Parts: sequence; structure tokens; C-alpha cells
Amino acid sequence: MQHPRCQNCHTSGDAPRQSDRGSAHQPPVRRGPEGKGVGAMQCATCHLEQNARSPTLRREVPGAPGWRMPPPEAPMVFREAEPRALCEALKDPDRNGKRSREQLGRHMTEDALLAWAWNPGAGLARPPLTRDEFNAAAIAWLRAGAPCP
Ligand code: HEC
Ligand code: HEC
Repeated sequence: MQHPRCQNCHTSGDAPRQSDRGSAHQPPVRRGPEGKGVGAMQCATCHLEQNARSPTLRREVPGAPGWRMPPPEAPMVFREAEPRALCEALKDPDRNGKRSREQLGRHMTEDALLAWAWNPGAGLARPPLTRDEFNAAAIAWLRAGAPCP
């Protein structure tokens, strides 16, 4: 959750971030009412269902089905959140997209945007644990009653 692959979507403010440094997204885009962009700047116009080399930019543009950031009413901000606050927010249905613990577990182990972090392309770093390790840790955390540090 504290890795740039997650935090570039799970960020504060009104725009995603990019790169291992979490820089401002180029071109400037906006979250929009559903997290999918505004007007002609729809996320899915550039971000396809898989990573794809852009003919104009001549580099890989990240992609996964349903590419978007969380919606404004539940922005799910991981960036710069203290571990305890982040943990509390994750399991709070008012802030996590109305997910039960079971739904949270399914999201963490099956979601395509989350899974993309382990196949980011474009020379981007992966999270410091494997996907299997992440899934095992998420399940163990939920089974233990989702305790917070
Ligand atoms: C491309 C953008 C994107 C990336 C990358 C991404 N997420 Fe998300 N994430 C979302 C969106 C959008 C939602 C909300 C989906 C919904 O509620 O319909 C979400 C929801 C979640 C949720 C459930 C809500 C919550 O806060 O409890 C968790 C947990 C989560 N993401 C974890 C991660 C982790 C961990 C990573 C990195 C390994 C990651 N995400 C990477 C876009 C992203
Ligand atoms: C006009 C094209 C375009 C639009 C529209 C667009 N993006 Fe991007 N996005 C890019 C490109 C190109 C990159 C890769 C930047 C690079 O490699 O320098 C990128 C990178 C990203 C990254 C960085 C991934 C990482 O971890 O480094 C995220 C997150 C992202 N975009 C989210 C979004 C979201 C969310 C939207 C809609 C609100 C959106 N983008 C709309 C072109 C676009």
C-alpha cells in the first residue's frame, strides 16, 4: 500500500501521479466524478486493458481493465497516510467503497488494477514482496480480525 505502484492511484488531490518518484501525471488529467477522468481526458483513452507501447510517445503506457482512480466520494488515499490511519481506513466501509472484510479480501487477491502493480512494464519498480506473499499477508491479516498497528 505504501509503494508508488499503489500510491500513484491512491493519492490525495484531484489527479493521479506517475513514476517511482510519484511525480505529477503528464499530461495533466483530473479524477472526475467517477475517477475515470473528465471530458476528452478519459483514463481509458490512453490506458488500455494491458500495457501497450504508444506510437506517438514511443514508450509503454500502463494498462489494465477499468483503469481509473478511486472516486471523489471515497478517494482511498494511501499516500502519506500513517500505517495506523491507513489500516483503519482500509476496513472502514464508509471509506473503503462500502466493502465488507470478505469483499476487501476478494478485492486484494483478485482486482485487476491492484494486480497490475506486479506487471507494470515501462521499467517501473514492483512492490517489494511477491504477489503470492501479498495475498498470503492480506488473508492472514483479515483472518486475524484485521488488527491495526
Ligand atoms: C490504476 C489505479 C490503481 C492502482 C494502480 C491501484 N489501485 Fe487500488 N483501487 C483503485 C480503484 C479505482 C479502487 C476503487 C474500486 C471501487 O471501489 O470500485 C481501488 C480500491 C482499492 C482497495 C479497496 C478499498 C480500500 O481502500 O480498502 C484496496 C485495498 C486497494 N485498492 C489496494 C491497492 C493496492 C495494494 C495497490 C498496489 C499493489 C493498488 N490498490 C493499486 C485503483 C488503483
Ligand atoms: C492523454 C493520455 C492519458 C490520459 C487521458 C491519462 N493518462 Fe495516465 N498516463 C499516461 C502516460 C503516457 C503515462 C506514462 C507516463 C510515462 O511513462 O512517463 C501515464 C501514467 C499513469 C500512471 C502511472 C503509473 C505508475 O505507477 O507509474 C497512473 C497511475 C495513471 N497514468 C493514471 C491515470 C488516470 C487515473 C487517468 C484518468 C483520470 C489517466 N491516467 C489518464 C497517459 C494518460
